[in-house]
Amino acid sequence: MSKPARHAPPPSPPPAGSPADASPRPTPAGVAAPDLAVEIGRLALKNPLLTASGTFGYGKEFEQVLDFSAFAGVIGKTITREPRAGNPPPRIVETPSGMLNAIGLPNPGVERYCRDYLPYLRALPCKVIVNVGGMTLDDFVACARRVAAEPGVDAIELNISCPNVEEGGRNFATHAEGTHQVVSACRRVAGGLPLIAKLTPNVADIAPIARAAEEAGADAISLINPWIGMEVDWRARRPALANVTGGLSGPAIRPVALRFVWQAARAVKIPVIGIGGISCADDVLRFMVAGATAVELGTINFVNPRAGEEVLAGLNRLLPAAGVARVRDLIGTLAVTEPGDDARDRDRDRRGGAASDPTLQGFLAV
Ligand SMILES: Cc1cc2nc3c(=O)[nH]c(=O)nc-3n(C[C@H](O)[C@H](O)[C@H](O)COP(=O)(O)O)c2cc1C
Repeated sequence: MSKPARHAPPPSPPPAGSPADASPRPTPAGVAAPDLAVEIGRLALKNPLLTASGTFGYGKEFEQVLDFSAFAGVIGKTITREPRAGNPPPRIVETPSGMLNAIGLPNPGVERYCRDYLPYLRALPCKVIVNVGGMTLDDFVACARRVAAEPGVDAIELNISCPNVEEGGRNFATHAEGTHQVVSACRRVAGGLPLIAKLTPNVADIAPIARAAEEAGADAISLINPWIGMEVDWRARRPALANVTGGLSGPAIRPVALRFVWQAARAVKIPVIGIGGISCADDVLRFMVAGATAVELGTINFVNPRAGEEVLAGLNRLLPAAGVARVRDLIGTLAVTEPGDDARDRDRDRRGGAASDPTLQGFLAV
């Protein structure tokens, strides 16, 4: 369906030194703009940039500051079958290089979402990906079926990092069976819509869970949802969040997210969407080299609501400068030396193993 362009008034320049400000300049005159198109299964994206659920409202909140066409797709706050009020406050706290949130999925419920929010979203000049959640398998299926019946929805992202109340609160995405169950059930009701399974980092091994999502029919996986943490007000002897624990997001989790994306991309053949602390064009390219086909921008939207535009400008500047004509050529190009593959490792082993490795000597000496 063709969508009319919706442009915000020209925004004022971002504050110097903000994270996304690292790469604000457009493509220099005379330099061919890079081809930024990528594909998430059947979903063709004009560039790799999506918004991360819960950090972009339902789009309208950003209309005064952002040109939506910077993003290839918008993912709104998780929708559930019934309306939810979310957790009591305080439900957000700032932490070094990030934030903790225990929002608790407040949302208007799928019926009101389809009536009051979707018409606005489907008029935006980018794809609409609806993020759905649930506390039971039936919740997920009902919500996915309802959303799939609406025109102008381009894909569904399943937020399976929700506690399964039928299983005593065990999070669906912390085990392969739970992941398989939700994805395969939603696959049956989602028609031809691409399905993205959003995975949690709160697991020991992501590979079997990523494979379960793939086997169950997911077109892509996205990761990571926030990393569970907590903060304490020691003077009051109280947790900083009413929920006690919350999800850590922002630059603090970027290396963790990068590791998960790399491991997941090696475990599956379907595309991987990277999420976690992405704040500038360099970060996007880090994730793509590690195996991501696209990325979602999350906490940075709170720091700088124009981050999408600036990250896009950064891609247009960095790629030609690096001699990269098509961003998709970078996907999964990370050069990794497997243990035992490298002549240096062989030499090290011959000379006495790890004890002779200069990078380890500092640790071994203590
Ligand atoms: C305030 C807040 C609310 C969020 N709400 C949701 C949500 O409703 N559904 C969801 O799938 N993820 C939600 N997330 C997780 C983000 O989509 C993303 O996975 C996470 O924040 C990591 O990316 P970031 O470090 O770039 O923020 C939320 C994150 C934040 C900070």
